[in-house]
Amino acid sequence: MPGIRGPSDYSQEPSRDPSLKINAKEPFNAEPPRSALVSSYVTPVHLFYKRNHGPIPIIDHIDNYSVSVTGLIDNPTKLFIKDIMSLPKYNVTATLQCAGNRRTAMSKVRNVRGVGWDVSAIGNAVWGGAKLADVLELLGIPKLTSSTGLGGRHVEFVSVDRCKEENGGPYKASIPLNQATNPEADVLLAYEMNGEILNRDHGYPLRLVVPGVIGARSVKWLDSINLLAEECQGFFMQKDYKMFPPSVNWDNIDWSSRRPQMDFPVQSAICSLEDVQMVKPGKVSIKGYAVSGGGRGIERVDISMDGGKSWVEASRTQKPGKDYISEHNSSDKWAWVLFEATIDVSQSTTEVIAKAVDSAANVQPENVESVWNLRGVLNTSWHRVLLRLGHSNL
Ligand code: MTE
Repeated sequence: MPGIRGPSDYSQEPSRDPSLKINAKEPFNAEPPRSALVSSYVTPVHLFYKRNHGPIPIIDHIDNYSVSVTGLIDNPTKLFIKDIMSLPKYNVTATLQCAGNRRTAMSKVRNVRGVGWDVSAIGNAVWGGAKLADVLELLGIPKLTSSTGLGGRHVEFVSVDRCKEENGGPYKASIPLNQATNPEADVLLAYEMNGEILNRDHGYPLRLVVPGVIGARSVKWLDSINLLAEECQGFFMQKDYKMFPPSVNWDNIDWSSRRPQMDFPVQSAICSLEDVQMVKPGKVSIKGYAVSGGGRGIERVDISMDGGKSWVEASRTQKPGKDYISEHNSSDKWAWVLFEATIDVSQSTTEVIAKAVDSAANVQPENVESVWNLRGVLNTSWHRVLLRLGHSNL
């Protein structure tokens, strides 16, 4: 019996929280209500967005489960869970964000292809596992290596789920070897999420977590790890999750002209209010998240009520809780910041805008039009909600 396999239909899906908003049923794609994201710094597993491209794999025998390591490496081998667990365990608090987060808003400008998402294709978790750099060292590839003796420069991660985009083959992606072997990059082979064993939806028994990089590269349900000379040639690296300029359409697209998207840009969203929200006159509390990729922390979040002419600075609310004490000072460089501001609303309609600035002073773009792309990825434009005076619970 194999340890893990990808079923061909959806008859054995795990149960899910009924409060999730389902954007596509098969494969299962769902996000929590906005308000759930600002209720806790660490997103509970049951409310964490789920992004799949096929039926959820099944583990028959965890003892039989192994990950084969092949390709341009001196000693191809098999890694069992116990081998990975015997390495030092790290807890890395990292925000995972799908490149398609906020796609629905982008599709309102002009049609885009892809599953629609509101602002909740994102979550912040404490991932527990072995550092990939330690695993590769165990296999004879030293830390901070950019090429193996046999010419391996990329590390590919292959799953077992059957994806129609791969003609029924598995999901796969790769990262450069110099990132994989850099302990500071905190890339994990994770077996835990928020202190619990990973659940099936999120990659049980083992997934990759690449902090600061779009979620598409954090391959779930690992089956093999391959050392390659070139980056992975799979669909999701070469024909998807690339950022095109607004001028490119389905008739003139040349996928090979762009590199696969890796780091995500600075992002923020207001989560305590819907896009159009009735409020009572007076003080209204605004809460949301801000995050940036590549290990760039958040410098500040600005709020405007006059279309961006003037701004007030929001304050940072929840910090990592006691249960999740950071191991070193910079450990929240991969994690979001939750922010809060209180505004006074007196006009019948008020547009509230949030924009974040990261540690490299990168700022979110003002308009979605300027970042529109046919796949609807990386909508990081200023987040706007419209408040109307009226009856409300707020
Ligand atoms: N890994 C596999 N094997 N299959 C997938 O469909 N989806 C990717 C990534 N890893 C995917 C995968 C995408 S696009 C995202 S955004 C994240 O997983 C979502 O992870 P989550 O479902 O744990 O939130």
